[in-house]
Amino acid sequence: MQFNDQTIFVIGATSGIGQATAHAFADAGANVTLTGTNAKVAATAASKLPRPGKGLRLDLADPAGIATLAQGLPQLDAVVITAGVTHFAPTAFDTPEAFAHTLQVNLTGTFFAIRALAPKVRDGGAIVLTTTVLAKDYFFGATALSASRAGLTVALRTFAVELAPRAVRVNAVSVGPIETAAWDKVGATEADRQGVRARVPLGRLGRADEVAEAILFLASGRASYITGHALAVDGGWSAA
Ligand SMILES: NC(=O)c1ccc[n+]([C@@H]2O[C@H](COP(=O)([O-])OP(=O)(O)OC[C@H]3O[C@@H](n4cnc5c(N)ncnc54)[C@H](OP(=O)(O)O)[C@@H]3O)[C@@H](O)[C@H]2O)c1
Repeated sequence: MQFNDQTIFVIGATSGIGQATAHAFADAGANVTLTGTNAKVAATAASKLPRPGKGLRLDLADPAGIATLAQGLPQLDAVVITAGVTHFAPTAFDTPEAFAHTLQVNLTGTFFAIRALAPKVRDGGAIVLTTTVLAKDYFFGATALSASRAGLTVALRTFAVELAPRAVRVNAVSVGPIETAAWDKVGATEADRQGVRARVPLGRLGRADEVAEAILFLASGRASYITGHALAVDGGWSAA
C-alpha cells in the first residue's frame, strides 16, 4: 500500500499502536502529523518517523482545544484516532474521576475530534478509529473502558452514514491484546499476560505493527467499499 504525499493525521501516536501506525504511513510515503498529550514528546516522536513529520499536542479531554487545532490544519487524506485511556478497576474501587476521564477521552473526546476533523478530510478520504474487543466482552474491571468503547463502536455507524454522501469512509479496528506500553501503564504482570495469552486462540499477544497494517488497509483505496465496520485484529479473541 502506498500513500505517496498523502497527508495523514494520527491522534495518539507517541507510543504503541499509534506510533507503529505513524511509522507505517511514513514508510508508505505519507506526510504524517501526529499528536500526543505533551508537545515535546510528540515533536520527538514525529522527528523519528522514516519521513519526519510534525508533532502536535492534542488532549482528547479538551474538545475546545481540538476545535482550535483543527482550524489550523490543511486538507487531510485520512484521520486516524488511536489515542485512548486504558483503565481497569473493579466496580467497588473505581472513582468518579477515573470513570469520567475514561469516558471523556475514549468516547466524548473522540466524538468531538471526529466532529472537528471531518470537515478537514477530503471527499473520498477516510477516518479510522480504534476500539477494543472489550466493547463486547467481559473483562475484570473493564466497566468504564468497555462502556466507552461500546459507545464509540455504536457511534461509528452514525459517523459512517453521515459522511457517506462525501464518500468519506469511517471504520475502526477492534483491537485485541497487543503488547504495548499500555500494559505497563496499568501494571500488568507476566502472570496477567499469561492469562490473556491463554484466552487468545492464536496463543500470543499481538504486535502494534499488526494493528497498523489493518489501519493502513482501512485508510487505503483498497477498502473503498468498506464503511461503518469494526475489523477485529485480535488473534481470534472475538471468534472464541
Ligand atoms: N494494547 C492493547 O492491548 C489494546 C487492546 C485493546 C484496545 N487498545 C486500544 O488501542 C489504542 C492504542 O492503545 P496502545 O496500546 O497503543 O496505548 P498506548 O501505548 O498507551 O498509547 C496511547 C496513546 O494515546 C495517547 N493519549 C492518551 N491519553 C490521551 C488524551 N487524553 N488525549 C490524546 N491522546 C491521548 C497517548 O499519548 P501520550 O503518551 O502523549 O499521553 C499515546 O500516544 C487505545 O485506544 C486502546 O484503548 C489497545
